[in-house]
Amino acid sequence: MSALLLVITGWDAAPWERRFRAAAPGRTIRLWPDRVGDPAEVAYAAAWLPPSGAFAPFTNLRAIFSLGAGVDALLADRSLPQVPIVRVVDPDLTRRMTEYVTLHVLMHHRRQRLYDDQQRRRVWHEHPQPPAREVHVGIMGLGVLGRDAAEVLSRIGFRVAGWSRTPRVLPGIETFHGVAGLETFLARSEILVCLLPATPATKGILDLALCRKLNRTGALGGAYLINAGRGMLQVDADIVAALDDGTLAGATLDVFPTEPLPPASPLWAHPKVTITPHNSAASVPEEVVAYIVRQIERCEAGQPLENVIERSRGY
Ligand code: NDP
Ligand code: OXD
Repeated sequence: MSALLLVITGWDAAPWERRFRAAAPGRTIRLWPDRVGDPAEVAYAAAWLPPSGAFAPFTNLRAIFSLGAGVDALLADRSLPQVPIVRVVDPDLTRRMTEYVTLHVLMHHRRQRLYDDQQRRRVWHEHPQPPAREVHVGIMGLGVLGRDAAEVLSRIGFRVAGWSRTPRVLPGIETFHGVAGLETFLARSEILVCLLPATPATKGILDLALCRKLNRTGALGGAYLINAGRGMLQVDADIVAALDDGTLAGATLDVFPTEPLPPASPLWAHPKVTITPHNSAASVPEEVVAYIVRQIERCEAGQPLENVIERSRGY
């Protein structure tokens, strides 16, 4: 039977190998780089942060499965074989991301960091509280994750808009697209949520110039950034500068250009920053494995693979 190769760095590969063996007991599982066996027998690969060139020896590959929703690390490999690249689309992952976005939008809206600080100083003082219907949230990226977060925030009552590459229509959500739509979208957004993929077009998009275009005079009296997309989207030094000069009133960052975030980063101790360790939407590994095994079965039954990356869509 055609073998499945696991190419995993940055995570412990052993538990993934155990999960795949349990979910597909009849399948030959190979582990890169030490147990690849005969490269000609490898028909499928499942990968996380694969090094460039890792797939080159496997000339009979039929599909590569990302172990995550983001495929930027995979697609950075210029020698990637021209086979379908399948990413994870999982309702559980989507819901976790929506929880994270909602939590942090509400944290900034309800000024929870301020109340945490007051609590430490034993201060009993109430601040003005604008209603959600007066607060403009902007979501960059209206894909699987951005759409779900937009719908939930809109149900809570926020004035939600979204920005995408191509035109999108979402009930109750104002939408903008492309370079032409970006300035207007930013100018109305007080809380900017970034759920974009890292692509050549989006790399470094979250810089000082962009932060300066946000709405600082809305109901919240300041602008906030939440980035749970990818670290390569943000310029850390610019985020620090924007926080220091008041361009940003606060930021929630789940992802960073270098992960783990280096101990020397000024972001760690910045009083306006909330940091999480790239865990806004951790997926359940067993569900990811079951999804990939199902997809391999589909492929072998002659059915089309699902959630194949369209390389023409800006990736
Ligand atoms: P999708 O591919 O479904 O959606 C991507 C969205 O971004 C689309 O709306 C797309 O526009 C838009 N987009 C892409 N390029 C541009 C551009 N140049 N200008 C404007 N809009 C653009 O992805 P998902 O929603 O599933 O995931 C988004 C990202 O979230 C992933 O790529 C990954 O990096 C990140 N992620 C982070 C996790 C974490 O733990 N922090 C977990 C999971 C994912 P259009 O609709 O026009 O194509
Ligand atoms: C993903 C991630 O892409 O965890 O799934 O970032």
